[in-house]
Amino acid sequence: MHPAVECEGLSKTYRVGFLGRKVKALLPIDFQVNPGEVFGLIGPNGAGKSTTIKVLLNLVMPTTGKARLFGKDVHDPRSRESLGYVPEAPVPYEHLSGLEYLQLQAGLAGLTAADAKGEVTRVLDRVDMTRHAKLRIRQYSKGMTQRVMLAGALIGKPKLVILDEPTSGLDPLGRRLVRDLILELRRDGAAVLFCTHIMSDVEMLCDRVALLIGGSIHKCGPISELVADTRTHEVVVDHATKEQVLALLKPDDVARLEVVAQRVLFHVADTRLQDVLKALLNGGLTVTRIQSERIPLEETFMAALRTSNQPGGLE
Ligand SMILES: Nc1ncnc2c1ncn2[C@@H]1O[C@H](COP(=O)(O)OP(=O)(O)O)[C@@H](O)[C@H]1O
Ligand SMILES: [Mg+2]
Repeated sequence: MHPAVECEGLSKTYRVGFLGRKVKALLPIDFQVNPGEVFGLIGPNGAGKSTTIKVLLNLVMPTTGKARLFGKDVHDPRSRESLGYVPEAPVPYEHLSGLEYLQLQAGLAGLTAADAKGEVTRVLDRVDMTRHAKLRIRQYSKGMTQRVMLAGALIGKPKLVILDEPTSGLDPLGRRLVRDLILELRRDGAAVLFCTHIMSDVEMLCDRVALLIGGSIHKCGPISELVADTRTHEVVVDHATKEQVLALLKPDDVARLEVVAQRVLFHVADTRLQDVLKALLNGGLTVTRIQSERIPLEETFMAALRTSNQPGGLE
């Protein structure tokens, strides 16, 4: 079985202005997304996320490299046979109603009139927009427009759904809907590629992520792998002084030490926890609490951002 998405040595340099000034939006990048996988392309504003997505949809010509969907080159229209897509800032036909827009989409997806009717009813219901189906898109709020665009991407049960910043600008209910939809697509075996600068969505949804900064991939892998080396534990020792604790431990093992009443609190790296506990207990001290703390994904990414000297933009 082919991967849903493959990028090999993909790069894009835009030419802007009268003098054709070069903007390197993407340096060569490689990644793939497998069927049944939710893949997050994350990074600050201007990192090249939308450019990557546009190359996959054949809306932007890459400067170098190749991109394929289900083994077919993106120049081949057949690569988009089973694809749903919602752009970052959709420009829908505002004079149409939501219903008419979706009927048009169903027609473009090649559904027969009879199939289209059932499918449009299904997707309208799925995004909770049946009530507003006959209203013109011009009269929709941003969230309602986003819902109808999402519904359009679900028509015909595509095997790959690509979403550019699907939750930005949505209220909590809308965000929840998008999250549920993404998880449902995965359950049905579809691949989902979405890009975002909102970290909480990523931690909740993605099987794997690629962190894009300044057009290149800094890290790529399962979320657990990206944050595994940053786990720490807070250890609480009761009825002890700072000096007693420090006498038993190596200085490097103790971070963020605080004394509160007669308790000593400090942080230990995951890899050192067992040795530290042994030392404390053998030294006759009482450990009353160990709380595991995973440094949020956001921290990992902010650190990567700092070392790359790129402007921020993560939320
Ligand atoms: N059509 C274009 N012409 C010139 N430069 C562009 C164009 N589209 C994007 N860029 C530039 O390419 C870089 C990456 O943009 P984009 O892919 O939209 O980033 P992201 O989606 O991660 O915010 C930015 O510096 C942006 O200004
Ligand atoms: Mg973008």
